[in-house]
Amino acid sequence: MPELVRLVGGDLPDLLALERAGQPHPWSERQLADALEDEAARVRGVRDGETLLGQAIVYRLPFEAELQAITVSPRARRRGLARLLLESVVETARGWGSERLLLEVRAGNAPALALYRAAGFTEDGRRRGYYPGVAGAPREDAVLMSLALAPPAEMA
Ligand SMILES: CC(C)(COP(=O)(O)OP(=O)(O)OC[C@H]1O[C@@H](n2cnc3c(N)ncnc32)[C@H](O)[C@@H]1OP(=O)(O)O)[C@@H](O)C(=O)NCCC(=O)NCCS
Repeated sequence: MPELVRLVGGDLPDLLALERAGQPHPWSERQLADALEDEAARVRGVRDGETLLGQAIVYRLPFEAELQAITVSPRARRRGLARLLLESVVETARGWGSERLLLEVRAGNAPALALYRAAGFTEDGRRRGYYPGVAGAPREDAVLMSLALAPPAEMA
């Protein structure tokens, strides 16, 4: 039975292995280590026994929170693990009192876009040609999305 956990410094080797196996644009070891140490970040994991099957990294901003990464092992996809991780990230951001959860996603990343839309995120805009193209492909747009977490402040 998959279990949600908070990942800490000692989980870096598992996190790096998952990132390299499951993320077409993996974070570096340094970036992952920084996220595990940063007070403003939470790194959520989903484990099946000893095996790390998924991770999500969320950062606290002054009024909002930003989902910066989410990866599920290729062999564990379409089992609801990303949905589970996303729910845990939303809970973390609510605990921080964040007004919105923000993210950016490549316009061509259909699985991730479907995941975020199904979770209630809406599109706020695009950054044209934001991501460099891979292997000679043209640059790719970034889609900016958000999920409202708290009702807007009442009008005075
Ligand atoms: C995107 C990703 C995290 C989804 O992980 P997952 O565990 O397979 O997703 P889930 O099983 O929780 O899917 C939840 C919902 O998202 C949508 N979804 C997920 N993958 C999908 C796909 N390949 N095609 C269509 N919809 C998809 C569906 O609505 C799905 O619900 P359903 O299975 O009941 O139809 C995974 O494909 C991945 O790790 N991709 C590589 C890394 C990446 O691109 N991360 C996001 C940008 S940083």
